[in-house]
Amino acid sequence: MTTLITNLGELMTQDQDHRVLRNAAVVIEGERIAWLGAAADAPAADESVDAGGRALLPGWVDSHTHLIFAGDRTAEFEARMAGGIYSAGGIAVTTGATRSTGDYDLTRLAMGRVAEAVSQGTTYVETKTGYGLDVEQEARSARIASTVADEVTYLGAHLVPADMDADEYTDLVCGPMLDAVRPYVTWADVFCERGAFTEEQSRRVLQACRDAGLGLRVHGNQLGPGAGVQLAVEFRAASVDHVNYLSDEDVEALAASWSGWSAGAGAGSDNRGTVATCLPACDLSTRQPLAPARRLLDAGVPVALASNCNPGTSYTSSMAYCVTTAVLQMRLSVHEAVRAATYGGALALGRESGTDIDGERAVGSIAVGHRADLHLLNAPSATHLAYRPGMPLTHAVWRAGVRER
Ligand code: NIG
Repeated sequence: MTTLITNLGELMTQDQDHRVLRNAAVVIEGERIAWLGAAADAPAADESVDAGGRALLPGWVDSHTHLIFAGDRTAEFEARMAGGIYSAGGIAVTTGATRSTGDYDLTRLAMGRVAEAVSQGTTYVETKTGYGLDVEQEARSARIASTVADEVTYLGAHLVPADMDADEYTDLVCGPMLDAVRPYVTWADVFCERGAFTEEQSRRVLQACRDAGLGLRVHGNQLGPGAGVQLAVEFRAASVDHVNYLSDEDVEALAASWSGWSAGAGAGSDNRGTVATCLPACDLSTRQPLAPARRLLDAGVPVALASNCNPGTSYTSSMAYCVTTAVLQMRLSVHEAVRAATYGGALALGRESGTDIDGERAVGSIAVGHRADLHLLNAPSATHLAYRPGMPLTHAVWRAGVRER
């Protein structure tokens, strides 16, 4: 089955050459992109969609979410808006609500959140455990996550439960809990922050999870300067997320982590560095300074934008909101912001390359052989994402070639 999407006013590929085509068309065949180019040259297809001059982007790649939870934290948010400050301790409130929710309801809640994201143009989603915080509950969260998300990250090291000693809990995270989640996850993460895990505890978690064959990610430098970025680089983590408080040395280390890397080198390439993942919706909701995405890009650090959808610090899955904020307040161009929310997320998940030849289809960019993850805007150009902030600009979504909206 082939589908031609034609009469595209703008086709923002976010491919290796950063191409933006006008009067363009795309052909989907099954789950893959089969052709793209000038509409006038498009081949025949089994069905045709007239885009009416609208703009087509890769679907959003949301590389940082926490979707496996129950309850909400409206009261905590209200207190923050009244001048309170965010602390990691709120995670315990969600852990309590999550533990007391059955599998069926927890799965239904997570599926609803993914559906909400897809309806806004998200086509590839990572999500984490981290609201279970004991062996059984973390394994349950990982199992549920593996049924709803494209990539699953183990975040047993999210908060030390109040009734446990931090070092004993870290032993649990590095031992029995890791064994229990291992069948369901490909990534591991640690919240290296004041009030969560120290540098030494984080190091132990990263080492154990790397030894278990997991890819690594780090929550770092969110609430103040800290060791997260340097640890992430040292362990060759795929991403360090939040990055609100960065020293010059942190930015230099992130940039240096990419020296010798070339786009298209593939997920298994040895010289991949650490992506800086910025979470602007979280920054605004916690009244932290916005992550310095402009400074990072100027230093040569690849940047991803993600929603960080979770009940504590960022209860939104709107990637458009993140892109809008990145343009209006973080001083990225529209192209840079869209790239960070598509290709950047894919890079942070090691999914930016791969075609028919090697079997694993790339996401986050529009190129022949890549997964047909497409987001048709109800606008003639991606600029409208910033020019018309907050407007419902998603017109159609294809996920692995299937029309979702
Ligand atoms: O990414 N920073 C740590 N984890 C989440 C917040 C979790 C919560 O407060 O429930 C985050 O912001």
